[in-house]
Amino acid sequence: MAIVPNDITDVIEADRKNVWHHLIQHKPFETIDPRVMIEGKGMRVWDATGKEHIDAVSGGVWTVNVGYGRERIANAVRDQLLQMPYFAGSAGSIPGAKFAEQLIEKMPGLTRVYYTNSGSEANEKAFKMVRQIAHKKYGGKKYKILYRERDYHGTTITTLSAGGQPERGAQYGPYTPGFVQVPHCLEYRAQVETENYGEWAANQIEEVILREGPDTVGALCLEPVTAGGGVIEPPEGYWERVGEICKKYDVLLHIDEVVCGVGRTGTWFGYQHYGIKPDFVTMAKGVASGYAAIACMVTTDEVFEMFKDADDPLSYFRDISTFGGCTAGPAAAIENMAIIEEEGLLDNTTAMGARLIDNLNGLMEKHRVIGDVRGKGLFCGAELVADRQTKEAVDEKKVQAVVGDCMAQGVIIGATNRSLPGLNNTLCFSPALISTADDIDEITAAVDKALTKVFS
Ligand SMILES: Cc1ncc(COP(=O)(O)O)c(C=O)c1O
Repeated sequence: MAIVPNDITDVIEADRKNVWHHLIQHKPFETIDPRVMIEGKGMRVWDATGKEHIDAVSGGVWTVNVGYGRERIANAVRDQLLQMPYFAGSAGSIPGAKFAEQLIEKMPGLTRVYYTNSGSEANEKAFKMVRQIAHKKYGGKKYKILYRERDYHGTTITTLSAGGQPERGAQYGPYTPGFVQVPHCLEYRAQVETENYGEWAANQIEEVILREGPDTVGALCLEPVTAGGGVIEPPEGYWERVGEICKKYDVLLHIDEVVCGVGRTGTWFGYQHYGIKPDFVTMAKGVASGYAAIACMVTTDEVFEMFKDADDPLSYFRDISTFGGCTAGPAAAIENMAIIEEEGLLDNTTAMGARLIDNLNGLMEKHRVIGDVRGKGLFCGAELVADRQTKEAVDEKKVQAVVGDCMAQGVIIGATNRSLPGLNNTLCFSPALISTADDIDEITAAVDKALTKVFS
């Protein structure tokens, strides 16, 4: 049992009075207490009431990959902060250099790490490089960036301009010009009936490139497995075609690994399941499991070399992120990576991910409200439908009722939230990579009970 302060009424009052929480309607907090998390250990977290939960969403948003209470990460961060906490990213640091080297070892074909403030910003760095490359090589013309329906790349106005989730973007326009949407690739909600849906969906990207003009399209930005848009692994044949299309039209491939990166799907990076060769890879959340903030954009020598004309005062990447110079992030990331290696967490993710999918498939046999189960590694979803034939989504309130019932049982699960109008109906599961078989069974047993309660 975790130690909970005897009286945290003051904390809750201060929170209620002065904190504006992320992605949540605050009206209910006029009558109920906001949730305040106090302590975490392994897979478990305790809130301000002292209630214990198993965390099936790694800190809510796919982040605490190695679980809570890792002393070696805390010690490494502490030591590093005392030695050298910060210097602007125009200079290097010991953990920054070491982590970059270790990361690059896991990413054949890529050579350069650019540290940023957040996942959104890591994506914007790639967007800025694409724009600058357009100026360097194509007279400014190849500036357009394609993104996919249902994908999410961040919270800034420009990453929302590249966002395929209308409810996240609504009312925040006007958006940054030059971003063009391509269709989603969720076979369960296929736009057409065809034998090879993966290839069909990828071919839609080619259609968009041809419509826009290949000489205007600089890059394609995709999540390897779409996260908040519904846990979507592209169908077979998709990535092969995407690779061919990018090559054919000289379009740079930007893979957003902010969720999948550093183990979540059972490989170091999601794209590594599919044999693709990205030009940019962005990452954040799980890089240091949330013990310290760290995000980065990784690219190739080919891209890097384009920014080295010493005679041109504008040729280099004229960009800075203040907190990209914080050393706590890479210090924590080095330990995080060592833990994943030493404890065999990639293999565990594959094995426990298979168990999670099996359990969810078992629930699908029992509960007609589950229309589809999908995922990769410890990154799974179950889509809830009112009718399996029509695939009509269940009322969002019922999805939230399932999440709420699990929470009451002491199991924190997630659901797609304010992403797509009428389609925020997928339960999301992303427990830490340290999950055991008992943890997985405990999580799905709670879902079983919740589904029975909400839908019978
Ligand atoms: C796929 C993806 N990309 C980018 C981001 C943005 O990352 P951050 O919140 O660190 O800016 C997120 C956040 O949820 C994400 O899921």
